[in-house]
Amino acid sequence: PKVRRSKQFICTISDDRGEEATYAGFPISSVALPSTGKGIGDVISLLWFKKQYPKWATDFIETVIKTVADHGPAVSGAHNAKVTARAGKSVVESLVTGLLTIGPRFGGAIDGAAEHFKYADDNGLTPAEFLNHMKKQGIPIPGIGHRIKSLKNPDLRVKGLMDFAAENFPKTPLLDYARTVEALTTSKKENLILNVDGTIGILMVDMWRALGYPEEEINEFIASGTLNAFFIAGRTIGFIGHVLDEKRLAMPMYRHPMDDILYDVQKAEEI
Ligand code: ACO
Ligand code: LMR
Repeated sequence: PKVRRSKQFICTISDDRGEEATYAGFPISSVALPSTGKGIGDVISLLWFKKQYPKWATDFIETVIKTVADHGPAVSGAHNAKVTARAGKSVVESLVTGLLTIGPRFGGAIDGAAEHFKYADDNGLTPAEFLNHMKKQGIPIPGIGHRIKSLKNPDLRVKGLMDFAAENFPKTPLLDYARTVEALTTSKKENLILNVDGTIGILMVDMWRALGYPEEEINEFIASGTLNAFFIAGRTIGFIGHVLDEKRLAMPMYRHPMDDILYDVQKAEEI
């Protein structure tokens, strides 16, 4: 009798066995060619979520990717990528050093923002109760605060995403709640705005709810880091740009100016 070998891997998103490979059952040409009218938002909805999202949702995903593609050379990730490229490393090596900075402070506060704002709203916390709750946990509220953006120097990316949602989402209850929190945090300090990470995380929850996802599935997306992946995918475009820029400019190896470092070394004591 035939003995079936057990499989070591399972794949539920794409298939390359036929004449033309597919993304969630759709031949690549049916989403890749310009004549299909499909974009990166459609490719992401197929490969990440195995669903065909309506146009307003794929347009939102695409708007997010384009919005976070770059924010100049000074941010942690671009800086790392540039320094690595100047040390003579390859595109992929330089890119990953940039990506590795994406986390709870930079670009990777999206899942955390979705998680905490959703918890606060689901449990009917007032903004003041939410701030108190986060203070007790001893962590800054993910999605709040920016180094250079503030009420006086607003982040137009945030405005763009909010305007898109106002025009295209059926409703935005979590964003509406988050804005009441922002009103309180900015009354304490003007740079404690709802930042681009927070806006993306919160609007993704509003999007998934409007698409009819059950709460458990949204919680699973958040727990598995799905939301930060939008920043990772988008900012990869910018980091590659910075690496290619370094190569084009043939910049020499970088060494940090010593006068910008406080050297404070004590002679080690014997133990
Ligand atoms: N929640 C509550 N309080 C905050 C927050 C926050 N998210 N961010 C800053 N504060 C407070 C600090 O506790 C501090 O208070 P103190 O002066 O009483 O000690 C004060 O604001 C200044 O804090 P810093 O950490 O020095 O603020 P900075 O402007 O350097 O930090 C940062 C900016 C790192 C983004 C910070 O606001 C933060 O950690 N936010 C949460 C993480 C986040 O959303 N990151 C994504 C940013 S957007 C992006 O990277 C694409
Ligand atoms: C970014 O998108 O990289 C930023 O919001 C971070 C920054 O400090 O500009």
